[in-house]
Amino acid sequence: MCRKKQPAVLLLLLLVIAFANVTAQQKSIAQKVDSVLKLMTLEEKIGQMNQYNDDHTATGPVTLDNKKQEQIKNGQVGSLLNTVGTERTRSWQQIAMQSRLKIPLLFGQDVIHGYKTTFPIPLAEACSWDLNAIQLTARVAATEASASGIHWTFAPMVDIARDPRWGRVMEGAGEDTYLGSKIAYARVKGFQGNKLGDINAVMACVKHFAAYGAAIGGRDYNSVDMSDRMLWETYLPPFKAALDAGAATFMNSFNDLNGVPATGNKYLQRDILKDKWNFKGFVVSDWGSIGEMINHGNAKNEYEAALSAVTAGSDMDMESRCYKNSLAQLVKDKKIPVALIDDAVKRILQKKFELGLFNDPYKFCNTAREQVALNNPEHVKVAREAATKSIVLLKNQNNLLPLSKNTKTIAFIGPLVKAVKQNKGFWDVEVPGVDSNFIVSQWEGLQNKVGTSTTLLYAKGCDIEGNNKDDFAEAVEVAKQADVVILSIGERRDMSGEAKSRSNINIPGVQEDLLKELLATGKPVVVLINAGRPLVFNYTADNAPAILYTWWLGSEAGNAIADVLFGDYNPSAKLAITFPRSVGQIPIYYSHFNTGRPATNDENRNYNSSYNDESIFPKYEFGYGVSYTSFQYSNLQMSKKKLKANEQIEVAVTITNTGKYDGEEIVQLYLRDKVGSIVRPMKELKDFQKINLKAGESRTIKFIINKEKLSFFNQQLQWVAEPGDFELMIGASSKDIRLKDFFELIN
Ligand code: NOJ
Repeated sequence: MCRKKQPAVLLLLLLVIAFANVTAQQKSIAQKVDSVLKLMTLEEKIGQMNQYNDDHTATGPVTLDNKKQEQIKNGQVGSLLNTVGTERTRSWQQIAMQSRLKIPLLFGQDVIHGYKTTFPIPLAEACSWDLNAIQLTARVAATEASASGIHWTFAPMVDIARDPRWGRVMEGAGEDTYLGSKIAYARVKGFQGNKLGDINAVMACVKHFAAYGAAIGGRDYNSVDMSDRMLWETYLPPFKAALDAGAATFMNSFNDLNGVPATGNKYLQRDILKDKWNFKGFVVSDWGSIGEMINHGNAKNEYEAALSAVTAGSDMDMESRCYKNSLAQLVKDKKIPVALIDDAVKRILQKKFELGLFNDPYKFCNTAREQVALNNPEHVKVAREAATKSIVLLKNQNNLLPLSKNTKTIAFIGPLVKAVKQNKGFWDVEVPGVDSNFIVSQWEGLQNKVGTSTTLLYAKGCDIEGNNKDDFAEAVEVAKQADVVILSIGERRDMSGEAKSRSNINIPGVQEDLLKELLATGKPVVVLINAGRPLVFNYTADNAPAILYTWWLGSEAGNAIADVLFGDYNPSAKLAITFPRSVGQIPIYYSHFNTGRPATNDENRNYNSSYNDESIFPKYEFGYGVSYTSFQYSNLQMSKKKLKANEQIEVAVTITNTGKYDGEEIVQLYLRDKVGSIVRPMKELKDFQKINLKAGESRTIKFIINKEKLSFFNQQLQWVAEPGDFELMIGASSKDIRLKDFFELIN
């Protein structure tokens, strides 16, 4: 018995030693930070809190500044953004090394869905519900970026987003708090790797703190008005999850929250993030957002804006120059204590030490390593796998898909078939010396897949936008010669992203008209929809026999789409966001309340919560997505029907692959708290598992229900689980609930 315990004791000992090591390391870094701080003038301290954009790319409104070099030499700049590549980062760092204290610069960059190797846009990846795959793409992105001189990515964006008019839905993990929190955690782990300071780790920057995704009307940068309870319950948990994963930095946001700009919001940054959550890293403002408080009408001038932001807990000023221009005066005027500046500077220096930049400011500027990392064929494999896992099969009438590899003639039609860079999605990075056209187009992907016995025909058909139908006739002729037609339509990649809100989210231009004409030929048509947001495409949804929602898939888009079209990968993705039927339904999301006059169908509209002119149901619900195979859910078992707060229920369910293809299923567990002191949602995702089953195979999987999963924020903002009845739902989507049961939480 004694012998059996030995490994456990050993493990404990090792853990204690490791913990002691980390603590000692942190302590010694803290001492080093203090000793640097003691040497710094006030101006140098403020310099650390100042971040500028480099000169050649901009991701915001640029302020022309020809004094950057001089300011860096004077120790007036702590960080640059949009500086990429070992050569360019090295040359800026050399300038910083000419400053009095030789404090290294931090290089930050939006590495949102890949660096050189581009991965699916984050919303697409979220539809994979595959946390390992998501962590892996972030890992690869960090490996490439860090080898290219970058220390810090402005990702992940963890904003819950329920309004597809908002262009930035593409950048997050969709509408759901539970799924969003899991993904936030995975992405931070992926970016930061084992620990900061490792040669292939970059700092994560969790953004945008907070509630940016709830911009009124889906208009970017707009105000947010929301209850504190909603903030805590729905919008904050992904940030907390990212923090629990060890996120080094946070970015605040452009919006005001209930009238207080997030950038100057003490409640968010100081009370919640730094005090309650004990966040030890630093907060960077969003681009110019400190100065923008003047536009908000919350600060009279730069002086007031700087005062408000620094007091609220914004440690670094991205591009507004308010800190540079006003902090010293604020100290002189005794509006802020130097201690406030010291706290911000310490947080920033701490990270520079952790990254190892004080030991070697050129640590990430090794051009030979950069070459190897940017040309690693393994990264391409990761991109292809992530892309296949992100494609959502929305419809497959009469099993039109997968296509046979012996198909004689395929017509590949549409404005996106031969597009190359479009596949990259909004946040691609222009890496110096890298041909940004190395992406596999959909046309190339299909060519790579089919053998010599298949003839591929092409017609563009129309443009993405505009009313020109001149090329329809050619497309119809091409379609008539084929056994099957594949039509690739959608948005341009820059129609979804920052500042890309749209009031009309239909498929643009005449693309659906083209589909109408192609369907009139009587040929089977598979539609690929490329987009960065849920679009409205009712005609396509109701008339096309097969639809794949391909989002923007990145470098390997063409190959991944071909893999799915021909069944080399059986699609498994499920929507991480609800697809509306019309803009009028927005915001629409599955975890809504029941209301006092619930509508349950579209027929009875008598004094209930419905639209007179529109269905109450979305076109495609959260969690939806089909496969080339089918899955049966059976044998729901619960270990008990009554639980006390300190107990848990084990739920078992058997899933059987009843179709002809091997495939993966994302099994979703939803709960409904039947009666609460606060109205509870109709259902809330509380767990899921993605499982791989061979054709004919069955597996029993288990979930645990515990107090945590039953808790919510009550009116006093306490995290509580209230005794009473709960409904358990297990399903293949938020609507397609296959098995149900009830249980009770007792005192
Ligand atoms: C503004 C965006 O809101 C933010 O997400 C991004 O990181 C910065 N610009 C820097 O590009």
